[in-house]
Parts: sequence; C-alpha cells; structure tokens
Amino acid sequence: MIPQDFIQSLLGRVDIVDVIDRHVRLKKAGTNYKACCPFHNEKTPSFNVSPSKQFYHCFGCGAHGNAIGFVMEYSGLTYPDAIRELAQQAGMEVPEVRGNLPGRPAAAQAKGLVDRMMEALNYYRAELKKTPEAIEYLKRRGLSGEIAARYGLGYAPDAWQSLKGVFADYESAEMKETGLVIDSEAGEAHGAEPAKKARRYDRFRGRVMFPILDSRGNVIGFGGRVIGDGEPKYLNSPETPLFEKGRELYGLWQARRAIRDANLVIVVEGYMDVVALAQHGVENAVATLGTATTPMHVAKLLRLADSVVYCFDGDAAGRRAAWKALEVSLPVLADGKSVAFLFLPPEDDPDTFVRRVGKEAFLGALAEAKPLSQFLVSEIASKVDMRSEEGRARFLAQAKPLVSQIEAPALGAMIRKRLAELAGLDPAELPGYLPPRDSGRPRPAPAARVIRRAHSLEAQILQRVLRKPDLARSVDPDLVSDGSPEGRALHAALAFAREGDSGLTLGQVIAHFEGSEHAAALEAAIRGGSILDEVPEDDLDLAAELAGLQDKLGHQRADRRKAELEARHMEGGLTEAEQAELASLTARQAASKGVNSALELPPKQ
Ligand code: CTP
Ligand code: MN
Repeated sequence: MIPQDFIQSLLGRVDIVDVIDRHVRLKKAGTNYKACCPFHNEKTPSFNVSPSKQFYHCFGCGAHGNAIGFVMEYSGLTYPDAIRELAQQAGMEVPEVRGNLPGRPAAAQAKGLVDRMMEALNYYRAELKKTPEAIEYLKRRGLSGEIAARYGLGYAPDAWQSLKGVFADYESAEMKETGLVIDSEAGEAHGAEPAKKARRYDRFRGRVMFPILDSRGNVIGFGGRVIGDGEPKYLNSPETPLFEKGRELYGLWQARRAIRDANLVIVVEGYMDVVALAQHGVENAVATLGTATTPMHVAKLLRLADSVVYCFDGDAAGRRAAWKALEVSLPVLADGKSVAFLFLPPEDDPDTFVRRVGKEAFLGALAEAKPLSQFLVSEIASKVDMRSEEGRARFLAQAKPLVSQIEAPALGAMIRKRLAELAGLDPAELPGYLPPRDSGRPRPAPAARVIRRAHSLEAQILQRVLRKPDLARSVDPDLVSDGSPEGRALHAALAFAREGDSGLTLGQVIAHFEGSEHAAALEAAIRGGSILDEVPEDDLDLAAELAGLQDKLGHQRADRRKAELEARHMEGGLTEAEQAELASLTARQAASKGVNSALELPPKQ
C-alpha cells in the first residue's frame, strides 16, 4: 500500500499538463488545454485538460480523471503502478507500507476487500499448478499455459474450508463481504437430531476459477466452472460492494488495448468464449457476466470503440440474447457508432466456432456481421406475413416502439425509410416513429442520459465543491444530511477540504477517495456536473450558488423537522421545548412565505 499523504504530495508536485503532453500533443485553449482524445477516435479535439483542477475530461467519450487515472488508462497500468510511474518521472521515492493505515477507515475497508480478493486469486492460481486434473481439463479445452496465466485462471480445491488456511480471519464479517464464503443456516433441534450450528464454508469448491477484474485490474469477483459435468456448471460471486454484475464485463481488462487498436469490441456470453478467442489471437472480446446485456454495458462499450459486435451462441437462447441486446442498444446508438450481430451456426458458441474455423475465418465472419438495422427489420418481418396489407401494418406496429427509441438522427431516418419502403408507404406517413423532440434543443449524449440521476441538493452542492474545493470552507456541514450516498460523500469531502491547505485540486480530492465508499458518489457528481465545462471558473459565481443551495438546504431541513414535530404533536408527545421549537418553525415559515417564494420549496400538503 502507498500512503495517501504521499499520493497527495505527488499530485501536488506533478502537473497533469506535462504528464499528458508527454503522450498527446496538447494545445492551449483559454485556461485549458485541448487535444484529440487518445481514448476514442475523433477528428476534432474534445479532450480537455484543466491545469487548475489537475483533471482531464473528454466531452466525446466521457473519459476523465486525474494524472494517475490518465497514466492508468493510457499505459494500462494498475493504480499503484501508475503512481510509481509518476513518482519516477517526478524524481520522488515511493514509500510503501504494509497493512491498513490509521485514520482512513472507509478506504481501508474497501481496500481490505480488494486485497482479500487478490489473495484468493493467488491461492487459486497456486492450487491450479498443483492439480493435474484441472490443468488437464484446461488443456483439453485448448488453452495454453500462457493464456491461463493472462486470464489468471486458477483452481478452487474440492474441500469445504480450504480458504481457512489462507485467511487467518476466515470467520470475520469482512470475509463474508468478499462473497468467497457462505454461512449455512443454523437449524433447530428435531426430535433425536441435535440443533445444527451455523457453519461457514467456501463458496467455490472443486472448480476452475475465472477471476473477474474491474477496469483498473482489481479482482472484484470470480466465476467457477465445474470440471466436466456437474451442476451448476458455473457458479459466480454474488453482488458485493466491489462487484456489480450489470456494470462489469469479463475480460475487459485484458482486452482494453486490443479493443482500442481494432476500434471494435466483440461481446460474447461466456468466460470460455473470451478465453478461447484470445487463445486464437482474437483479443478484443468481452463477456457479460451471466446476465443480459444492460444499457450500462452498451454505453461503456461504445465509449471504448466505435463498433460493437454481439456474437452469441447459435442456439435459440443466443438469438433471444441478441434481441435483448438490440433492445438495450437502441437508445444508446449514435451516428458514427455501429452495432452488429454475428449469428453462429446453431450448434456453435464462439469458443467451438473459433476452434473449428480458426482466426481468419472468424474475422471474416465478423466482417459480415449483420448490422443492427437489418437485424431489427428482418426479425420483425419474419414474424408477420409481409405479402398482405394486414401483415405489413402489423410489421409497422411492431417496429414503432423500437424505432422511436433511436435518437441517432441519420440512422433513425434510414431505418424509417427502409420500414416505409418495405411497407409500401411514404416515409412522411410514419410520423409517430420519431423520438419525442423538445423544440430542437441539443440533447445530452445518449450514453450520458442513461446513467443520469435526479439531483438532490446535496449532489448539487457536491458538484460545486468539486469544481472548486476551496469553497468547501463556506459550506456548513451541519446542514448536510447524511441520509444519502451524496450527503455522506459531501460530508467526507467537506472534512477533507477543511483539514488541508487551500489550493486543493479536484485531482487530489479524487485521489483521496480512491477506492473508498464515497468514490461512486463523487464519480456520479463529476459525470452529472459538467465539471470541466469550458466556462471559466471566474465567470461562475459558485460562491453565490452555494449560498443559495445552502439556504434551500436549511429550509428543507426546517420543513422536515416541522413535519416530524407536527406528526408527534398530533399524538400529544411533544415536550415543552419541542412545542416552542415547533412554534418558532411555524412562525419562521410563515415569515419567509412570499419573500422566499423564489426558493421553490416543495409545496406543503
Ligand atoms: N453462466 C452462469 N451460470 C450457469 C451457466 C452459465 O453464470 N449455470 C454464465 C457464465 O458466465 C457462462 C455464460 O453464462 O460463461 C455462458 O454459459 P454457457 O454458454 O452455458 O457456458 P459456456 O461459456 O459455453 O461454458 P462451457 O463452454 O465451459 O460449457
Ligand atoms: Mn461453451
């Protein structure tokens, strides 16, 4: 572990502009710097670097982060390795300490989970080396030792508590949180049978292990396959604080560079499909994790590459999965991006197919993948009788709810034209197929809209504080409720900003909360808050905005307290002091009515 203090002073020392300029030629544009984004293909620069924030952000693909994040993304390094790389450039020596640091319980706890998963991975890998039966199985499936190592494949011994020898605190609550162990339920005594004591045992036993990594290479979960036949064939980590299935993609860490080089990502269903494709030199494949494709997946993939090809099993289930992937892709499509489907012979999955036909033939088939527009049209057309007018009307009716979700103007127009042709109508006769428009105002990029959430006052304040951390000093923490993730993150950010010197940058704040329970809320605030807009900070009266938001918070809080007191008052349960408080709240509210009608307080019921 690298101490936080060191990371903070490293980020205080290096300048993100120099760090990035070493790899990407930056041009000054106002107070910021610009370039064509290294993380997606583009012709006009939308990649921005802010020296005052020590943060970069691409308006095209949404990539953003501090200097450490840039080095990780650009060079494909882990978090600690990116820090070491930066330190070396800055001529600083990295102090390393073992174990948890005092004073950072949240981060340490999150780190504890990550470390445990890594320890389990090392154990499973060592066990694989000792288990000829498992090695034999992988060999039979055509995998080399090199590929097994690249994907970190391992083996979980066929015993109930083999992890007990790995983790001294096997019975701890933290172990439960890793998802690596299961607690059996205690049973009551039944006649002659004695009461059963709850017992803890390993989740994965006698299985080949596939570690699942997040985008920075941390192990966040595992999939385990039985050797040979057995049920269930695959067993996966449950959702844990580290692991959210609908968000993660298996193999993304290993595939990152190949995806960027090919500007194309192949999405398959199975762990073995990803690994077998890599074995045959097709390295840009990832798999959904035993779940259907989610909008989050598609948005993430389309940020990484301009083309996504879904290549599911050739059976009926694979076709259903493809249709589902089509449905979730529609709202995220953008002109300039392409989504296509490669349908394999019914008896194949990508693993068997690539093994049978080899790399070249696989790539050939990939190039012939069916574009989403064709799949959409042909699939619906195949279900109706296109020879009759009634059939064509049904065809249009079935296409309508799908096509109206396409926001990409050119693609949408072409598909509507095609539908009209097939139905024998003029495209102008299909007005209801347009996505709902609001007065032609520019809309946010579809990918961003999918993950946007409603903004609470806490989230809005957090966004301002992240823009200019020095402003944290003007926010009263007592007003901030800690009933939501944003509220808690705001509390933590306020405390952090207050405890240090002024001049704290966004880049440093992000580094401080790296891997902590607040990281997600901060990330959401950055995404939602146009943190790097090109409006110069001096033109924004952030201090005034913050004062206004705090005012609203104060009112919101008073309203809540009043409602609570009123409710208890009805039951006659107020002390004298509380009655006085209620009276003063009521009076204050009456006084501020009218004067503060611009405050948009929620209507009183
Ligand atoms: N899966 C799962 N649980 C199961 C079956 C499948 O989580 N009981 C998930 C796994 O992620 C698996 C994917 O669905 O990789 C695809 O399943 P399937 O096609 O049945 O497996 P294959 O990847 O073809 O596995 P193999 O070739 O090893 O039989
Ligand atoms: Mn298979």
